[in-house]
Amino acid sequence: MVRSKTSQRWLKEHFDDSYVKMGQKDGYRSRASYKLLELQERDRILRSGLAVVDLSAAPGGWSQVASRVFGDRGRLIASDILEMGSIPDVTFIQGDFVDDAVFAQILESIGEHPVDLVISDMAPNMSGVRAADQSRSMYLCELALDLAGRAPRAGGGFSDQDIPRRRLRRLPQASV
Ligand SMILES: C[S@@+](CC[C@H](N)C(=O)[O-])C[C@H]1O[C@@H](n2cnc3c(N)ncnc32)[C@H](O)[C@@H]1O
Repeated sequence: MVRSKTSQRWLKEHFDDSYVKMGQKDGYRSRASYKLLELQERDRILRSGLAVVDLSAAPGGWSQVASRVFGDRGRLIASDILEMGSIPDVTFIQGDFVDDAVFAQILESIGEHPVDLVISDMAPNMSGVRAADQSRSMYLCELALDLAGRAPRAGGGFSDQDIPRRRLRRLPQASV
């Protein structure tokens, strides 16, 4: 396959990225893992034995972080519109989160088991039109929050990188 100059530049920048290099060394599938590790270091949101839902999980960096914290204790349900390579003991649901059927499938998979934490790193494909991209992002965020509200709760936490911290503080036991 012949690569365009732009995609060659993207690939070079990607592989030169220090987080990408660190991720390869640490065995993480994406640089996004370090976002969650930072949150974890600051807020200790993950603990062994928790039940966590990871929305927009592909390629699986956050799920890897959570499952490493869990060891053999914990429950993790992950979902994304894209495929995700399997991670031991992680239930994966593939589909568009905006689709009612997918939303319902995630809730069905949660079942009656209380959820401790919903984490979301959902980022829509950017169109370049700022207002449209922002509202799409916020819509996904609101949907994630809606799911967190409908799931049977154990501790009850929600973490999404797109919700301003000021607003999240007003939510009970929320973290971002
Ligand atoms: C920043 S990436 C997530 C990276 C992931 N947290 C990790 O650690 O590897 C954003 C993800 O949002 C997903 N996404 C965007 N829109 C979606 C939608 N409508 N339904 C489900 N997933 C979506 C994308 O497929 C992409 O995998």
